[in-house]
Amino acid sequence: MKPVHAQIYLAPMEGITTYIYRNAQAAVYGRLDKYFTPFLEPHEKRSFKKRELQEILQENNKGLFVVPQILTNRAEGFLELSASLYDMGYREVNLNLGCPSRTVVSKGKGSGFLAFPEELDRFLDTVFQGLAGNMPGMRLSVKTRLGMESPEEFPELLKIFGKYPLEELIVHPRVQKDYYNHRPDREMFRYARKESPAPLCYNGDLFTGEDVEAFLTEFPETDRMMLGRGLIRNPGLAAGELTEEERKERFRRFHGLVLNGYREWDMGDRNVLFKMKELWFYQIRQFADAEKLGKKIKKAQTLAEYEETAEQLIYEKHMVPA
Ligand SMILES: Cc1cc2nc3c(=O)[nH]c(=O)nc-3n(C[C@H](O)[C@H](O)[C@H](O)COP(=O)(O)O)c2cc1C
Repeated sequence: MKPVHAQIYLAPMEGITTYIYRNAQAAVYGRLDKYFTPFLEPHEKRSFKKRELQEILQENNKGLFVVPQILTNRAEGFLELSASLYDMGYREVNLNLGCPSRTVVSKGKGSGFLAFPEELDRFLDTVFQGLAGNMPGMRLSVKTRLGMESPEEFPELLKIFGKYPLEELIVHPRVQKDYYNHRPDREMFRYARKESPAPLCYNGDLFTGEDVEAFLTEFPETDRMMLGRGLIRNPGLAAGELTEEERKERFRRFHGLVLNGYREWDMGDRNVLFKMKELWFYQIRQFADAEKLGKKIKKAQTLAEYEETAEQLIYEKHMVPA
């Protein structure tokens, strides 16, 4: 893909966009403009679980613009967690109003919160007052879907968002019940561009350089976009045009950094194996004719077997351009 003028953010992806991942991505392909953490939830007793703390420690995110994401529908919990993040030096947090998973939605959180616009309005009111009163300079952005059932819910939600000084509004233009099916509703995104006082960031189904370029042709005024699965498929998606040799060399380096990072994470070989396999679900599409080796990776029982197969795949198979 040609270099683009818009800022590019890495989407939060639970279990995938860890600090190990973002550091490897930045080291090999160049820093993206922002990295959103997978969602953190407020806890009753202590502020962070060990894994969550690792994600947000400044020493694990040196030189990266990291935005911690919070999933909750309780303003007090949101503010407590934000205060802990503030003490650690963070000046921007993101509210998750997009997660479509049933367990989250049934508790009225993530995109489930979109079904309760009045409560959401009260929540934002309390949160913005709390931030202004106790955390000077703390900014808040929102990552949202269009609604629960129908895009017709979105205009009312946009009106609510418009009442508050959001740092930015990141829109994944699907509704909860779509999960990841159907095409993102670009017309609703266009509507949001007209109606939202907050800067808008698009997210959804930009998998390849061509997708990004087509999006920029359709929305030439775009100054920021968030990429998820496309960047996991090809971590060099935003790194400019590279030769195949360069792509391979970089991907080999990137893969090694991620693998070693997880090995050092003290999670046990089985979990490292699981994490690497999860990445290949996306990464395999960068390679041509790699189904057989892809299957072998899926079936690998030991890390040694995994590593040998992954190296063979990277060495032997053609990499398609970004
Ligand atoms: C495995 C997985 C985990 C995700 N975890 C989160 C999350 O923690 N917080 C969030 O806001 N979105 C999460 N998402 C949604 C992505 O951030 C993004 O909105 C979605 O993948 C659409 O963008 P894309 O088409 O560029 O991938 C997740 C998506 C996937 C596939």
